[in-house]
Amino acid sequence: MDNRPIGLLDSGVGGFTVVKKVIEKLPHESTVFIGDSANMPYGDKSREQIIELTRRSVKFLLQKKVKLIIFACNTATAVAMPTLQNEVEQQIIGVIQSGSLAAARTTKNKKVAVAATPVTINSHAYQKEIKFRDPDIKVMEVAAPELAPLIESQKDYDTNLAAVKRSIAPLKDQDFDTFVLGCTHYPLIQNEFAEALGDKIQIVDPADQVAQYTFNVMRRDGLFSSFDQAGKHEYYTTGDPDKFSEMGRRFLGQADLTSHQVDTRN
Ligand code: SIN
Repeated sequence: MDNRPIGLLDSGVGGFTVVKKVIEKLPHESTVFIGDSANMPYGDKSREQIIELTRRSVKFLLQKKVKLIIFACNTATAVAMPTLQNEVEQQIIGVIQSGSLAAARTTKNKKVAVAATPVTINSHAYQKEIKFRDPDIKVMEVAAPELAPLIESQKDYDTNLAAVKRSIAPLKDQDFDTFVLGCTHYPLIQNEFAEALGDKIQIVDPADQVAQYTFNVMRRDGLFSSFDQAGKHEYYTTGDPDKFSEMGRRFLGQADLTSHQVDTRN
């Protein structure tokens, strides 16, 4: 029995999409989520900057005595995970391995498209992970620099839809049957993606598989909290706590959700 919380980090509000799946799958677990909104987007930063910013959030989570850490951010997973896993004892779980597994299992015609930040796309992490599972799968990658900052700024449906259409335009006429939301911000506008892609394409949200993988790791390592309690959830941001809370309340359906502003530089 281990009643310490699970820690999650993201560059901003996208991590709520992973928090939601983790809470659904592990209702007895407490969570601490930090979104580094003051420094988002990570997707156009240098490798060194991303590692340093992610390291600050990891340090913050360790101060909260978390038992494992989920990188609920594709860019941090693609760039910072190996370095930071060497620096901490707690297991770090990333989103790309899980998303790739789900994509490889979903595609029938062995053609998968991935949209993500420029850093994630340039790392080819999805391509490597999907091909590791099945070398015959063709992976089409598209960088969408516009989307994560747009989602963070919480615009209306039509604005989001137009941006999604612009972002996936390079995939026109490619006959992929599976599309990976390769940034944790994207499930926040999943309806816009569904409309732009049409109903023949399966959309993969890596968060589903991350929650299952986290469950498996906790069972293997004896990390479950006691089953006679409901989890408690804490939310922190380096940015505007009102905007952060508003997104959390909307997406998680927790009417009383509040978040606290923190400075992770110290
Ligand atoms: C970003 O901060 O650019 C998006 C984070 C992600 O890749 O999930």
